Amino acid sequence: MSETVNRQLRLKARPDTRVGAEHFSLVETPLPELGEGEVRVRVLYLSMDPTNRVWMSDIPQYLPPVAIGETMRALGIGRVSASRSDKFAVGDLVQGLVGWQDYAHVAADEVPKLLKLPAESGLPLPTLLGACGMSGLTAYYGLTEIAPVQPGETLVVSAAAGSVGSIAGQIGKIHGARVVGIAGGEEKCRYLTGTLGFDAAVDYKAPDWKTALKAATPDGVHVNFENVGGEVMRAVLSRMVIGGRVALCGVISNYNNGGRAGDDFGVLISKRLTMRGFLILDYRKNREAVQQLAGWLRDGRLKAEETVAEGLENAPEVLNRLFDGSHRGKLVLRVAEDA
Ligand SMILES: NC(=O)c1ccc[n+]([C@@H]2O[C@H](COP(=O)([O-])OP(=O)(O)OC[C@H]3O[C@@H](n4cnc5c(N)ncnc54)[C@H](OP(=O)(O)O)[C@@H]3O)[C@@H](O)[C@H]2O)c1
Repeated sequence: MSETVNRQLRLKARPDTRVGAEHFSLVETPLPELGEGEVRVRVLYLSMDPTNRVWMSDIPQYLPPVAIGETMRALGIGRVSASRSDKFAVGDLVQGLVGWQDYAHVAADEVPKLLKLPAESGLPLPTLLGACGMSGLTAYYGLTEIAPVQPGETLVVSAAAGSVGSIAGQIGKIHGARVVGIAGGEEKCRYLTGTLGFDAAVDYKAPDWKTALKAATPDGVHVNFENVGGEVMRAVLSRMVIGGRVALCGVISNYNNGGRAGDDFGVLISKRLTMRGFLILDYRKNREAVQQLAGWLRDGRLKAEETVAEGLENAPEVLNRLFDGSHRGKLVLRVAEDA
């Protein structure tokens, strides 16, 4: 790739259901000169996140939807390849909303939003997006501030073999909870109990999964770390104890259908539940939590896994793996080698 040309994936049409290459234009543009205070970032890894799919839809949400013709918004890691800012030097490793492109041209007023990453963390770059990045932080705050779990309580985590869920379940174990994960397929369930140390796992694709959930939660559910919504969430809520707490992290089962939830929240009343939604955007500056997660990784109490896909041009298809479940742990896309 020449240092003079950028490739960008720009949103061409809003998907109704699954994302496809037809919803994007792959556009080549000359790299603009840097103005005073501006920075250029060579994108190395993109974080493939369920929220990318939400940003493609013209529905009310926490950030404006990506506009038609705009480069797809996405979190990622890259290296500063040119700088006219005194905040960043060439070679700095940074994280931010770099977008689906080879190079991010960061305007002076956007430069403060770039996060400088430690040069020598000793961790692979995908882990800095996963267990020690946005996913790990989401799990951490969900279980420490939003719905803290106590020793001996039963915690149920949905999408448990995914990026946020796998870390949430392991943090639950570190806090002394009995942890039950919900995931699609026997192999993922074996991974949860065999590799990650969950106490039980329920395959929501099996016909008798609600009976299995009941058997796995004999004392009811004290805390639900909810990633899925819909039928999975309803089944978990029906198992909750009176006064149970829900950290509402995501409702991925709604993202491919225009955000229609259709959930019956009457159970919140009958069981006097507390359900609290949260966004990691509100917590991203806290480095202590990252250090805690990195410490657990180093001492082996936390296991991180990443699925690495290749090639910027494949981003739309790769995003679908979050909805098919054909990945484990953090899904990232490698855009370029870290030279
Ligand atoms: N609140 C925040 O700030 C915040 C931050 C990050 C992520 N999140 C949310 O956290 C959740 C997980 O995100 P992630 O990045 O860690 O993704 P992920 O769990 O790595 O991938 C998504 C997983 O969801 C499961 N899934 C997809 N569609 C489903 C459906 N219809 N029913 C049941 N399970 C389904 C799939 O696993 P199976 O194979 O098990 O089906 C898939 O592997 C998402 O809801 C996301 O929006 C929220």
